[in-house]
Amino acid sequence: MNRRSFLTAGAGLAALALNPEALRAAAANQVAGDWRLGFADLEADLPRGPMTLVQGRAPAGLSGALYRNGSGKFRRPGASATHWFDGDGLMRAFRIHDGQATLEARFADTPKRRRDTAAGAVITPGFGTAAGPGAKIGSADDSNAANISVLPMGDELWALWEAGSPLVMDPDTLATRDFKTLRPDLRGMPFLAHPRREPGGRVWNLGVAGSKAVVWRLSPDGALEAADLIDLPRASYVHDFTATDRHLILVLQPWIQDRMTLPYVDSLTWRPQMGTQVLVLDKADLSRRRVFELPSFFCFHMGDAWAEADGTLRFDACISADPGFALQGARDVLAGKVTHGGGGARLAMISLNPNGSADLARTVLVAEFPRTDGRFAGRARRYTVHATGLTPGRPLFEGVAVHDWTRDVERRFHFGPRQMVEEAVFVARPGSSAEFDGWLLVPTLNLDAGASELHVFDAGAVQDGPICGWRGAAGLPVGLHGAFVARS
Ligand SMILES: [Fe+2]
Repeated sequence: MNRRSFLTAGAGLAALALNPEALRAAAANQVAGDWRLGFADLEADLPRGPMTLVQGRAPAGLSGALYRNGSGKFRRPGASATHWFDGDGLMRAFRIHDGQATLEARFADTPKRRRDTAAGAVITPGFGTAAGPGAKIGSADDSNAANISVLPMGDELWALWEAGSPLVMDPDTLATRDFKTLRPDLRGMPFLAHPRREPGGRVWNLGVAGSKAVVWRLSPDGALEAADLIDLPRASYVHDFTATDRHLILVLQPWIQDRMTLPYVDSLTWRPQMGTQVLVLDKADLSRRRVFELPSFFCFHMGDAWAEADGTLRFDACISADPGFALQGARDVLAGKVTHGGGGARLAMISLNPNGSADLARTVLVAEFPRTDGRFAGRARRYTVHATGLTPGRPLFEGVAVHDWTRDVERRFHFGPRQMVEEAVFVARPGSSAEFDGWLLVPTLNLDAGASELHVFDAGAVQDGPICGWRGAAGLPVGLHGAFVARS
């Protein structure tokens, strides 16, 4: 029996073995097959073009730009990225003005992209992609994909990775300027993709390398106020952190860097027996610290934290049992396979008590990409918006939800299986001051239309569905994180 006849015989046997459940699953796979559009390559920048209004009308007062970052190209003839987090950074801009919207996208012009383009192969190592022949890595920024998130800063747009410098782009043209050096002696130091901005504009961020971290403190216009090196109790993988008005809070999960190797993910070991620690630092004196112990969990993202009157610190997080999605699921999506669905994360509330104990209250609510009303960052708040809703046979999300922590109620809107829903961003209604008085901007990839869309919700009534929606002329790969810049 040769290989072809072996495969043919195997296919026949498999067909005979199909039961009704398997047939349904096969049908679901077929329907959901083109989710791969969300992980396809964009071959060239998308020039600014009008979006078509497909529903409702834009609310008066909603004016500005939603910038979004995420991988946009993975495959090259000689070799391809093997992990979703290792595509070339692609900055998208949805611009809303006078009731109209436009969409454009431009690749971050990084040394990584230039080198891989010249080689005709992805040779630059990344989070989960190995180095190829000819890779030259002299500093972290040589492999910086600038592909995770975006921080608007003064008249600059900083495209953020997590193991190297911010990459400065032009907010109007999305043209790349250069890596940001915040202080000459700190060139190339890591700068996480999830800085925390205080309501007054000051920005805190971390850069983490093993069990060392740099704590960045920037003024509202992006000038460096302080950069302090600290030791961490363990060399956890840190993607995000949170903060109250007075404290920085680091979740130190038991995914530990215990060796130096590339790609980065291969240097980490999951050690659930160690539990998860939470490190609390005093913003005014980083040497003042407390460590809390929790059961083991994995976490990419958390919401803003706050302090209760009795000193209890609280924050929400999207937690999962292990880093399976980061390890394997985010590889498999590039190969067209679904092994970890939406990543398995569920919404949870964490309380750090004045007596030194900590509580983890898990929910069963599917949740990723949590966002809050930035005007309440670090203060007691009520709401979190997050992506939700899983579709069998397809990765990522098909709905958006607003969780009310005061009443423990969640309101949702499901777009259905033909839409891939990305991170929602809250935009305050001009002149408002109440929490979540404003809109949610929810980008999606419409699989039937093969087009990227932008939906606007009343943040107080997400369950009523979009009040307005636009469709772009092209379908862009699904992105990760965004930020809105209002324009009056
Ligand atoms: Fe993230």
